[in-house]
Amino acid sequence: MNISRNDIPLKIESVCKKYSDKKVLENISLIAEKGKVNAIIGPNGAGKTTLIKIIVGLLQATSGEVYIFGKNNIRENDAVKKDLFYISDDVSCYEYLSGEEFVYFTGNLRGLNRKEIGAKLKSLIQIFPEMEKNIKDPISEYSKGSRQKLVFICSLLSDPKLLIIDEPIVGLDPVSITVFGKELKKFAQKGGAVFLSTHILSFAKDYVDKVCILGEGKILVEAEVKKDTNLEFMYKKVLDIK
Ligand SMILES: Nc1ncnc2c1ncn2[C@@H]1O[C@H](COP(=O)(O)OP(=O)(O)OP(=O)(O)O)[C@@H](O)[C@H]1O
Ligand SMILES: [Mg+2]
Repeated sequence: MNISRNDIPLKIESVCKKYSDKKVLENISLIAEKGKVNAIIGPNGAGKTTLIKIIVGLLQATSGEVYIFGKNNIRENDAVKKDLFYISDDVSCYEYLSGEEFVYFTGNLRGLNRKEIGAKLKSLIQIFPEMEKNIKDPISEYSKGSRQKLVFICSLLSDPKLLIIDEPIVGLDPVSITVFGKELKKFAQKGGAVFLSTHILSFAKDYVDKVCILGEGKILVEAEVKKDTNLEFMYKKVLDIK
């Protein structure tokens, strides 16, 4: 089957990043596929957040290009923004807004009207029904996990085609991790694509379809995650961890 360039959610071509003389990413080329939950894993400082920030245009690569559905992430930034939603590792929200106000604010930025946002919120809050009781509270009073749930709800408001999430499950409780993982799978099965970073190998084993291990700024291995994949073994082997 011939896949057109415009059908590839994320294509990273030979991306390098240096801070002064320090090489942080070296010649990274990879593809995140449609219908899949794609993940990068790797030790602290491997370059995961740097790569994600380059993908979403918050950082400039020293060299190399990134394409989102065939469009260059910098030169065609306006078009690219419509297709993706990025959740950073610090889930920053406007503290003085209530959760509900933040949802309306985000929906509005994504071009939805109040009626559309209201309908979406009613349905999306069912992912995390426990959010119903604090959705009108100020975000300043939210726990880390509640913030993550709120931002995830926001991410799905405008039906993006590509979700980019830096360490999504750090603050979530075990039940919420399962709910979240299943939602990502559902999102991918409906034709979306996810590109995330995580340290939690058990999460990757259960919910990720394709994994890329990054070590010291280089891709060490790319692999499909199957039922019998021993991710922990693979991780330790490629990183030479005893
Ligand atoms: N602004 C900066 N200036 C200089 N070096 C930086 C800067 N930001 C990040 N780095 C370095 O780049 C490397 C990659 O950092 P990055 O945050 O991308 O790693 P990571 O894989 O996301 O790590 P973690 O698992 O801890 O989140 C690290 O060595 C880090 O110290
Ligand atoms: Mg990081």
